[in-house]
Amino acid sequence: MKVTIFGTGYVGLVTGACLAEMGNHVLCVDIDVAKIERLRRGEIPIYEPGLEAIVRRNHAGGRLDFTTEAAPAIAHGELIFIAVGTPPDEDGSADLKYVLAVAASIGRHLDRYAVVVNKSTVPVGTADRVHEAVAAELAARGADVGFDVVSNPEFLKEGAAVDDCMRPDRIVVGASSERAVALLRKLYAPFNRNHDRMVVMDERSAELTKYAANAMLATKISFMNEIANIAERVGADVELVRQGIGSDPRIGYHFIYPGAGYGGSCFPKDVQALERTAHAHGYDARLLGAVEAVNRRQKDKLFELISRHFDGRLAGRTVALWGLAFKPNTDDMREAPSRQLMEALWQAGAKVRAFDPEAGEEAQRLYGRRDDLVLCEQAMDAVHGADVLAVVTEWKAFRSPDFAAIRVALAEPALFDGRNLYDPAVVEEAGLAYYGIGRGRSL
Ligand code: UGA
Repeated sequence: MKVTIFGTGYVGLVTGACLAEMGNHVLCVDIDVAKIERLRRGEIPIYEPGLEAIVRRNHAGGRLDFTTEAAPAIAHGELIFIAVGTPPDEDGSADLKYVLAVAASIGRHLDRYAVVVNKSTVPVGTADRVHEAVAAELAARGADVGFDVVSNPEFLKEGAAVDDCMRPDRIVVGASSERAVALLRKLYAPFNRNHDRMVVMDERSAELTKYAANAMLATKISFMNEIANIAERVGADVELVRQGIGSDPRIGYHFIYPGAGYGGSCFPKDVQALERTAHAHGYDARLLGAVEAVNRRQKDKLFELISRHFDGRLAGRTVALWGLAFKPNTDDMREAPSRQLMEALWQAGAKVRAFDPEAGEEAQRLYGRRDDLVLCEQAMDAVHGADVLAVVTEWKAFRSPDFAAIRVALAEPALFDGRNLYDPAVVEEAGLAYYGIGRGRSL
């Protein structure tokens, strides 16, 4: 099939590459000229396992191309995806200006029936607004062209995006037109072979499904962080509690890992946006507010532990930091707990020696050159010359470090385990003080 995708961010680029891999002819559009040029050369602007190979293969095979021109792109696709950003505006609502600009552009150029597919995470009611925006432009030029708008939210995870896209656990399609549903069935047929993963519903339910999924996952994390903070105070180990409750299939083992808080481009933004949507409809979504507040407080947790270790005297101290990305297998630092920690340490007069397997460049871009930040090439380089070590991201490379070498390298051997990666007894046996999240001994 012929597919056009507006937006070459995580969602747009991964979707485009995966649809091309399944044999479709995909044209990706972005207003960022430099990015499109890089993509044409086979350079991927983001770190995402497996993505580069499929982009290159399909580009070389003529099934995936990139352009900055809206008109030929709209002429190309029988399905036109909108996968542009919806950044939060000042009050936390999703800002739809990019989505609606694409919709207007589709209305200006469309000359035969097409399905406009919304993949961006957008507030409930956006499909209607996209419909209006396309229709208004068609009417302005007196064009009698049919089209449908479908909501098809994306559920991929950064770091596993290609895999999630190739093997989706569900394909949510919000549509009120049989013709549009039939086209989406055809497009997704290769992803749907073993059993039907397509869940067809109305547009508003599809839009809310996306927010409900992310808000539920964020709620699980904040809930566990709350339990961790209670565990710490009552002398219990949240890791044992986690295993104890996870074995109940109604609760499950996934997404109940306590830690230094959730980050990324989705959870913080989506929880806030859903809260704003509820508020705009006259409903006070208290649980969502609490999920967010607990997370904000949790991102301060490591700083509090480090500060308490030094009796509040952090000036002149150096903290080694392992992990800058908001989670493993990405270089994304949006809303990353590492940022809140570093910024608090700098504020208190401490220095940071940081290492991340992928996000070093991103940290450089965000913070530039500063005396209180040294970005290291190796994990142990960060530790040498530091007083203590804090682990913020659970990269596999950090899972079984040489604790004895760390103890020797640190001036004040203490390890702050922001992801509960280590057995406290093993760390302490190696001669390091251990601080975890909710492990009964940190307070
Ligand atoms: C999230 C969702 O998991 C995807 O399903 C969704 O499609 C995506 O948002 C989106 O809306 O685009 P992502 O933000 O890539 O994906 O990352 P996650 O793997 O969900 O991790 C989010 C954060 O939660 C990370 O900072 C992670 O460290 C933290 N986390 C996760 C915990 O603190 N504890 C856990 O048990 C799990």
